Amino acid sequence: MSGRLQGKVALVIGGARGIGGAVAARFAQEGADIAIADLDDAAGERHAADLGGLYLRADVSRAEEAEAAVAATLERFGRLDVLVQNAGIYPWTLIENTSPEEWDRVISVNLGGCFHAARAAVKPMKAQKSGRILFTSSITGTHVTSPGHGHYSATKAGINGFIRAAALEFAGYGVTVNGVEPGNILTEGMKAHRSGEFIQAMADAIPLGRMGTPEDVANAFLFLASDEAAFITGTTIIVDGGQLL
Ligand code: NAI
Repeated sequence: MSGRLQGKVALVIGGARGIGGAVAARFAQEGADIAIADLDDAAGERHAADLGGLYLRADVSRAEEAEAAVAATLERFGRLDVLVQNAGIYPWTLIENTSPEEWDRVISVNLGGCFHAARAAVKPMKAQKSGRILFTSSITGTHVTSPGHGHYSATKAGINGFIRAAALEFAGYGVTVNGVEPGNILTEGMKAHRSGEFIQAMADAIPLGRMGTPEDVANAFLFLASDEAAFITGTTIIVDGGQLL
């Protein structure tokens, strides 16, 4: 059976569960060889084994660990066609209660992670003269936000700026850079941070009448990773069930 990513190699950082887990599964379904990098070893090893892929422990906020994940992917599969940097944390703290350490932590995972991963991945992609670099942004970055998300919103707005700058820099190498901006997606992380009532209220406020699923977001990533998106770079796709309308 030939899939839309047959013969491609994808590294999904933050791919053990949630949105990244669904991206890894969707890509594998379309024929890609998968490497998952994450900090949740149990979930990451299980998911990678289910997909016939490789699990790598890596903290994407650390440059050398992002580089090691890219190197291990190349060593195992010989090439890297698609990088998805999806790892992100979303603690809720009002600005006046946010310690400088907490601010730095959110910035270094969500935004620093994109820089470290892209910096490591572009080298082999440049040599191949092709590649797709994809990030998980959020509608929180540029469109809506809420009190308690100062650090988080700053990182997601930062990712969108970085996408445009990197797309311009890498275009001459045949490497495209894009992102997906999910709205409210029901994941393990979301369930851990939000009450059942809050989640129901959010679902009621979404025109399409439900929370998004990780698979809804994975389908947008699949399009951006596929040959059909060859002429798209420097932009994001919003997957929010009409929430911004
Ligand atoms: P999640 O918490 O369910 O999954 C995140 C994954 O990233 C986990 O496997 C976690 O272990 C991994 N991870 C966290 N820090 C890491 C690090 N430093 N290095 C490597 N891996 C790390 O989260 P969820 O909800 O699936 O979110 C994934 C991404 O989607 C995040 O970037 C988040 O900001 C973004 N997003 C989520 C939305 C939602 O409604 N769930 C909405 C908009 C954006």
